[in-house]
Amino acid sequence: MVGKLLMYAALRWVAAHGGRRVVALGRVELLSMYLELGLASTGAVVRSGAVEFQLMGGDVAELAGRTLRRYGSLLRDLQRVVRWGLEVPFLPDDDACAHGGASVEALGRGFETLDAHRDVVPADVLDAWFPPTPDAVAALSGGLDWIARTSPPVQAGGLIEELALRRGVPEDALAVGAGSSDLIFRAFRGWLDSSSRVLLTDPCYGEYAHVVERVVGCRVDRFPLRREEGWRIDPERFARVLREGYDLVVIVNPNNPTGVHLDAAELREVLKGAPSGTRFWIDETYAGYVGAGQSLESYAVEADNVVVCTSLSKMYALSGLRAAYLTASPSIVAEVRRWTPPWAVSLPAQIAAVRALRDPSYYAARWAQTGVLRAELAAALGGIDEGLHVSESVANFVLLTLPQGGIGAAGLVERCRGRGVFLRDLSPLSSAFEGRTVRIAVRDAAANARVVAAVAEVLRGVA
Ligand SMILES: Cc1ncc(COP(=O)(O)O)c(C=O)c1O
Repeated sequence: MVGKLLMYAALRWVAAHGGRRVVALGRVELLSMYLELGLASTGAVVRSGAVEFQLMGGDVAELAGRTLRRYGSLLRDLQRVVRWGLEVPFLPDDDACAHGGASVEALGRGFETLDAHRDVVPADVLDAWFPPTPDAVAALSGGLDWIARTSPPVQAGGLIEELALRRGVPEDALAVGAGSSDLIFRAFRGWLDSSSRVLLTDPCYGEYAHVVERVVGCRVDRFPLRREEGWRIDPERFARVLREGYDLVVIVNPNNPTGVHLDAAELREVLKGAPSGTRFWIDETYAGYVGAGQSLESYAVEADNVVVCTSLSKMYALSGLRAAYLTASPSIVAEVRRWTPPWAVSLPAQIAAVRALRDPSYYAARWAQTGVLRAELAAALGGIDEGLHVSESVANFVLLTLPQGGIGAAGLVERCRGRGVFLRDLSPLSSAFEGRTVRIAVRDAAANARVVAAVAEVLRGVA
């Protein structure tokens, strides 16, 4: 039992540090146990003195799933008696893709404590720190009683018209959804099957890996981004990899969680040079922060293999309402629209989104203010300890990397949580973070000060 628990602890550690495959050496006498646990033998044998080992391998997600299916109830019993010194939780979260958002739990499962949102700092999710345009707030609060009970325009025609006008693209090049998550799930499940080949960057927004690997079950390759290259996509290296001829390539630009942006002109060159059978999904959730001229929406209308997905959640402060759109050639859009259920975007979301799009100056001012708050937050965090590495993203977050040898990202997140400050441990997203990087969303000045105070206290070892 102890041996199996140690193996379980190793698996949890690997998963929580973004590991995707394990390689293991196991004594041949115990081979049947390893195989039963889900490891696969490579057939290669290594001898050391009198002992023979088999070289084995396994997919971390599969091993974890199999372990929980078989031993879930035993593990839950053991959890009560094991002294678990790891920073990683004993049991993983549920089967869904792990996101930030633990802060929302403060509201209570049945929303009994809605006012608690004032007491916590939700820097684990990238929701806007500012409210939506006052016009949207007024429209909703003035009519919530009838808005709540009224069916929205079935295809969100008014919202599509407003998007077309504001973005300068034809209406038939736009499809809408209840957040980009809705569009990602609908489009990917329509386009891909288990024989499809997909390329993701590593690191990348985690939902993409979840959908392609665990919902569709595709073959997925990773294009590694490197800390020492500033997490930048190297266009030449990327172009070479694209020659593999993928069915779908996802590029989050600016990237979450690295916060790094690839210039639109460079990206267009990459797309032009790629095999024509490869479809690109460009996620521009944070593109508002890098300014006009950096969106590929207009390019996507003309190209027949590029789709730009744009969330209204973060840039327009509408995360709770759920609204997003994608821009592509009319033939791609027609397909996505066919797969869209009626009333996909709620009436409050449609009303607020239209009002938001009509108030660009309000948002431009908030985005500029975000840049100032971000710089202040980064400077204050950097001032805590010279061993910390703080990198400012181009969007509404900063990355804080802890020095080797001290507290890890999971420990920092856990201890800040006890102070009502929620941060995001990036370790499970990619092994490239080496368990040392947390992502911190920009909030208002007072909340940012709470973040800095909490991080400083934890790092100084205040209990
Ligand atoms: C890069 C990226 N894409 C998509 C989403 C999903 O956004 P939503 O479903 O709210 O539109 C997020 C949310 O964090 C994100 O960071």
